[in-house]
Amino acid sequence: MDTKANVIIPKQAGGALAQVPMEKVIMRQDFSSWSIESLVDYIVNIQHRYCKENAAIIYDLAQKVANDGTTHPSLTGLGPAMFLFLHDLLNHMKKEEDILFPNIRQLVKNKRRSGKAKYTTFGLIKEWTGLMQGEHHSCCNDLDLFSQLTNNCMLPAHSSNCCKLLFNKMKEFKAAFLMNVHLENNVLFPKALAEDEEPEEDNPVNVEFRNSDVDRKRSQNK
Ligand SMILES: [Fe+2]
Repeated sequence: MDTKANVIIPKQAGGALAQVPMEKVIMRQDFSSWSIESLVDYIVNIQHRYCKENAAIIYDLAQKVANDGTTHPSLTGLGPAMFLFLHDLLNHMKKEEDILFPNIRQLVKNKRRSGKAKYTTFGLIKEWTGLMQGEHHSCCNDLDLFSQLTNNCMLPAHSSNCCKLLFNKMKEFKAAFLMNVHLENNVLFPKALAEDEEPEEDNPVNVEFRNSDVDRKRSQNK
């Protein structure tokens, strides 16, 4: 077992997709045919980048709307709630970029180099994809709460321009985030998990364990 291969050094994801502007990307791509590396590049450089760039804009707008004396009372709690949501979301993306994605990249790289029988992540990919799916669920619950607070982004009467901007941005942000969740939950994670599965008969650790187990039982029977 190559233990050195399990040490992951966080790094910035890069790639050809890094320079592709958001508006040029066709959202209904057949992502299932993409390689794992291309998916990770796209998620980090297009989807995560969009969320990071727009998080500050949304928070500023939510603060302005909450502090606006003419704002509907139901929107006064939007600023603090938005802060917590965006804080959790940015932390979530950082964990994916610092831990899960580098390990997925390393898994693909090592399996390509070593073949199925010589590399395992010891369950790390399974554990972390599960954790990240749980956080996606929690973020989606927050977005549902915002939908309730804003009556599905229906503008209150006599809304300020700031409120209009915020609601438009929130709709756009929600659509982009749900697309990101779809790509991770339904395309990237299943691909990574399939890559992480090792047939038992091909795994030298298991074979070795089975042999030593048999030897032990034989000696006990003597
Ligand atoms: Fe995620």
